[in-house]
Amino acid sequence: MLDTPTVRRFVEYVHQAIDLSSTSEEAIDAIRPRFADLLADEGWLPAQYMEQVEDSGMGGGIGQWLLHRTDDGSLSLFSLVVPPASETPIHDHLAWGLVGLYRGTQDEEIYAQRNGALELSERRALVPGDFYALIPPRDDIHRVRTTSAETSVSIHLLTNDTGCVWRHAFDPESGQAQPFRSGYVNVPCDEEEE
Ligand SMILES: [Fe+2]
Repeated sequence: MLDTPTVRRFVEYVHQAIDLSSTSEEAIDAIRPRFADLLADEGWLPAQYMEQVEDSGMGGGIGQWLLHRTDDGSLSLFSLVVPPASETPIHDHLAWGLVGLYRGTQDEEIYAQRNGALELSERRALVPGDFYALIPPRDDIHRVRTTSAETSVSIHLLTNDTGCVWRHAFDPESGQAQPFRSGYVNVPCDEEEE
């Protein structure tokens, strides 16, 4: 994982903000300016964490690199690297958080569940520096697709161990949910995997 002063300071601030907030919305508002700073800072993320990865848990050459997580699984920070024209499955996160674009451009599609089916509720085009909050259950299901000729890199701050929890991937046609665990490229989820 990435144990640097920038990441340590950011994570410390996030913990403080969560402790001092009574709702996820309040914590998100407190974290926003620091998250914007992180996305604007060109220098803190080593090239390794911006590499695409064949045969990853996300598929499509998508690399999910863990940068930091707390021992109790209440917070994770990771980069998601999506090659040109590649897209994630439609998936959920099961925890609130912030997601922002660091490199390249992406389209994000947000879905709502209605009577077991998925309905596209919003589509956003993102450029570096743009970010959004994910708050379940309303804004928890989405898919991202790289629209730039270069690989896109987004930074995810979530209030669970997103890569290791069992969550869901959804069939776009039927809306049916499948158990889904993406894992991380660089860190195992279970001790047996080490
Ligand atoms: Fe996501």
